[in-house]
Amino acid sequence: MALKIAVLASGSGSNLQSIIDAVTRGVLHAEIALVICNRSDAFALERAQKAGIPTATILHTEYKDREAFDAAMIEQLQCAGCELIVLAGFMRLLTPLFIQTFAGKIVNIHPALLPSFKGTHGIADAVEYGVKLAGCTVHFVDEIMDNGAIIAQAVVPFAPNESVDVVQKRVLEFEHRIYPQVLQWIATGRVQQNGRKVSVQDTGLPKALTNGHFLVSPQLEDGF
Ligand code: GRF
Repeated sequence: MALKIAVLASGSGSNLQSIIDAVTRGVLHAEIALVICNRSDAFALERAQKAGIPTATILHTEYKDREAFDAAMIEQLQCAGCELIVLAGFMRLLTPLFIQTFAGKIVNIHPALLPSFKGTHGIADAVEYGVKLAGCTVHFVDEIMDNGAIIAQAVVPFAPNESVDVVQKRVLEFEHRIYPQVLQWIATGRVQQNGRKVSVQDTGLPKALTNGHFLVSPQLEDGF
C-alpha cells in the first residue's frame, strides 16, 4: 500500500506541485491524502484541488493559540490516516504537541545548506553573506527550527552578480528534484535515522565525489 502523506503549505506550492507530478509520473509511490493550508489565498490549494486531492483550509488566525491551531491540524491529519507530514513552504512554527504526535514522521525542505542560513530568508541571507555555493536541504523536523537531522542536500552555484530571484529559481529547481526523491526513499523504507546521522540504503556517493572531484564554484584553474 502506498504511503499516505499530507502536505502542509502556506503559499505558491511549487514543491507540492513537484510531489504531485512525481506521483503522476509513477516515480513516487505515495498517496497525497490531504493538503492543509493556513491561508485561504495559498495557490497550493488550487494546485491540490486541480489534482483532485482533498484539502483543508485551517486558518491560524481563527485559533486562540498555537496549541489550538496545531490540535485542529492533528485531528484532520489523523482522520485522513496520514503517515508522513511533508512541510512545503509552511510558514508556521509547529508546537511540541504536533511534533511529538508525529515524532520522526515530519520532513521539511529549507532553501539553504543547513546548518547555515536558518530562518525565513535562507537564500537572501546566503547571497547577502557572499557565499559562493547556495543550495537546499531536506531534513527531519524536531522541536528546534531548521535543526532536525539532514536527509539530503543539493549544492547550487551562482555568480556574485546574480540576483536573489535568479538564485532562488535555481535552488527551487533542485528542491523539486530532491524532495520527491527523499519522499520515495521514505515511502520504500530506505531511510534510517540514528541521531543526527541519516542513511539511505543502496545509494552510493554522488558521482562527483567518487571521481575524486568536489563541486567548487568558481571553477579552479589548472594547477590549483
Ligand atoms: C521553498 O523555497 C522552500 O524551501 C521553503 O519555502 C519555499 C516554498 O516554496 N521552505 P513553494 O511554496 O513550494 O513554491
